[in-house]
Amino acid sequence: MKIFLDSSKVEEARRWMPVIDGITTNPSILLKEGGDIRELAKAVFPLPISIEASGDFITEAREYSKIEDAMPVIKVPLLKPDGGDNLSIIKSLTDEGVVINCTALMSLSQVILATKAGARYVSLFAGRVEDEGGYSTQMIIDCINFLENEDSETELIVGSIRTVGNVLDAVRAEAHIVTIPPPILEKMLRHNYSLVTVQQFEKAAEELRR
Ligand code: E4P
Repeated sequence: MKIFLDSSKVEEARRWMPVIDGITTNPSILLKEGGDIRELAKAVFPLPISIEASGDFITEAREYSKIEDAMPVIKVPLLKPDGGDNLSIIKSLTDEGVVINCTALMSLSQVILATKAGARYVSLFAGRVEDEGGYSTQMIIDCINFLENEDSETELIVGSIRTVGNVLDAVRAEAHIVTIPPPILEKMLRHNYSLVTVQQFEKAAEELRR
């Protein structure tokens, strides 16, 4: 299983570089955390960075996909804000060679369509699924079964992670990738008894040196 970092901060990317396999961003993250997407893309190269296209999806996707010394993956939502869909855009951009992460997916049926349209990654928003009473763990299992039965190269990214428990549920459901915000990675790292244990060993080592 791969870990992606769900953040737009270069400092966080550097901090978590030893354990991450890629980065995901979106306009809300950029608005909240700041950061320069081009600088981040270059800083994490050769790791893939998902950058979300908006407005005129085709123009933005082509623009971001040309960032040099970077491995840009273009996030395109399956649905447009006006209620239309981006299926033909995903298909034609994929045919042009743009690597697509189809984003903001909340159901198995959406994952099926995004995969069929050619997306290299499909992003299931587990936290938002749970917001509405859905059971994201079963949905992840169903998506993975679908992708395996299809013999697809498309990878499932589980996003919208709010707790360490969400991460572990995604791992148990055998998601290909989980994209995790920095505060949740920090919580995964910490354990009070580990800290007490290393402090105890350090104290013993000091006594041995005397
Ligand atoms: C994933 O690629 C998204 O950036 C992110 O996980 C969305 O999560 P949210 O529900 O916190 O907006």
